Amino acid sequence: MINDKNLTTYSTSDVVHYYQYLQQLQPAEETIIQLLKPKLPTMKMLDLGVGGGRTTQHFFPLVKDYIGVDYSSAMINACQQRFNQSYPSITLMVGDARNLSDFEDNSFDFILFSFNGIDYISHEHRLKVLQEISRIGKSGGYFFFSSHNLQAIEKQFNWKYHLSFNPFKTYVNLIMFAFLRGFNASLTYQTIQQNQYAILRDESHNFRLQTYYIRASEQIKQLEPLFKDIKVYSWKTGLELTTNHERMSCSDMWLYYLCCFH
Ligand SMILES: C[S@@+](CC[C@H](N)C(=O)[O-])C[C@H]1O[C@@H](n2cnc3c(N)ncnc32)[C@H](O)[C@@H]1O
Repeated sequence: MINDKNLTTYSTSDVVHYYQYLQQLQPAEETIIQLLKPKLPTMKMLDLGVGGGRTTQHFFPLVKDYIGVDYSSAMINACQQRFNQSYPSITLMVGDARNLSDFEDNSFDFILFSFNGIDYISHEHRLKVLQEISRIGKSGGYFFFSSHNLQAIEKQFNWKYHLSFNPFKTYVNLIMFAFLRGFNASLTYQTIQQNQYAILRDESHNFRLQTYYIRASEQIKQLEPLFKDIKVYSWKTGLELTTNHERMSCSDMWLYYLCCFH
């Protein structure tokens, strides 16, 4: 179960500061911006979990309408400060992806939930959020998001993976392994291997976040009833993973998913 300690972490000044200064698009986001470029000028976009506005500066100038939403008011304040000079007309709102009832059916051509923002809510809420996103998305439009890859973290729960020919590297790796196991005492290598998704505390922001990790095959299963034309992209290379084998063997810490609204 994920509780709102994640919101507390995303409202903490060091974390807000970190996101406020991020600039670069990730490789899979570059791929998608190129793919959608001809359509963006006619699109109404919802940037969910906008954080400090890393994606805003890339998408706002290209789309017809843009709304950025985040459940952390500290993130929205940071984002407003960042853009109040350059984009005075921008709409940035405090709002929770778990309650999208303010938005009407078929409202958006493009919904982005970037940099794994969807991974900070519970499993039940995740399924509800996916359903709500499919409701507010317009037919022919797109939903694009990333999520942590369970298969990538799995091996980090196995001590053997941390051994190296370099004794110093082995030492550092084993310390990180001890932290990972210490913060996730109820999870073992075997339990992770047997599961399709897991909620755990990883090293990002010093183990302060509870993060949802999922296998690509399971993520596709969650999406299939709600969306069509589901595609998976490597976070690192930005290339599409077209076969099951590629998706199952990819060790990127997170994967991007593009799908279309019915
Ligand atoms: C990893 S940060 C990414 C920020 C930004 N999208 C980026 O790519 O730099 C995840 C963001 O999702 C937001 N978030 C997490 N759960 C949310 C929810 N239920 N509703 C709205 N925002 C949420 C967090 O506050 C945080 O700003």
